Amino acid sequence: MIRHFTKLLDIKENEARSIFRRAKELKELRKREVCVKTLQNKILAMIFEKASTRTRVSFEVGMKELGGDAIVMNTQDMQLSRGELLKDTARVLSRYVHGIMIRTFSQTVVDELAEWSLVPVINGLSDKYHPCQVLSDIFTIEEIKGDIENLHVAYVGDGNNVANSLIEASILFHFRLTIASPQGFFPDVDLTERAKKTGLFQITTDPEKAVMDADVIYTDVWVSMGQEKDASRKKRLFEPYRVDDSLLKKAKKDTVVLHCLPAKRGEEITDEVFERFQDVIFTQAENRLHVQKSLLEWLMIKA
Ligand code: CP
Ligand code: NVA
Repeated sequence: MIRHFTKLLDIKENEARSIFRRAKELKELRKREVCVKTLQNKILAMIFEKASTRTRVSFEVGMKELGGDAIVMNTQDMQLSRGELLKDTARVLSRYVHGIMIRTFSQTVVDELAEWSLVPVINGLSDKYHPCQVLSDIFTIEEIKGDIENLHVAYVGDGNNVANSLIEASILFHFRLTIASPQGFFPDVDLTERAKKTGLFQITTDPEKAVMDADVIYTDVWVSMGQEKDASRKKRLFEPYRVDDSLLKKAKKDTVVLHCLPAKRGEEITDEVFERFQDVIFTQAENRLHVQKSLLEWLMIKA
């Protein structure tokens, strides 16, 4: 059976754990400049409807390092832009490549692609989820702070795709998660209801309450790609949700700050806080490469 990674809950905890073990190994091997050519002759097609730096480069480098290759396509250059059906695109690509990564405005596009594709489909970000980011973030948090089950993560800001994937991660990995967002900008309702049943999930409009005993404070842009029309209203409403020194004063001394990037300094995070945690934040970005290499191996040759 073909496995897809359209959202975090497409995989089981033991599968995620085995992806992490291999990611750790691949990270160490890369440091020692040992070549691992497990994906020789495998090609990943990458489809982009919106901008990307990390996702594009980490997937392309990942495929090449594992001995395979990647093809990057923007939807406006594909026949999709002239009305070719997604289900036909999925079946055509399945005859050429061994995996499809897609960054799209709509989760329904990812889901439809996965329904018709005969090769694994990976969600490289949609309006609803950013599973590759958050899978890799859990790996990063464990590298820095140890077992996620013993940690409290506070997400402060927009209840967006990253927040939704964090909620899925809290269900998958059983950790305490608190989300602080302004009223009207909470994450997906069904997901929050499901997460509340675990007893480990809380949602609040109070950022200070959220960070109080958090081991990790996570933030992301207030205005996600494709939501620019809301920008000025959001910037006013989100002021109290900036991760700055006054918010950090309410948190534990050894709290670390994560950001999936790109960051808008002066909006969701101050320059001072960003620079103080830059090493963690760029390690977070680096780990996308190691975790996704492991995910690619798992989807293309193991699962
Ligand atoms: N964090 C992330 O996905 O970055 P890009 O938008 O640059 O891919
Ligand atoms: N929430 C952001 C994440 C960017 C990686 C967006 O969707 O634009």
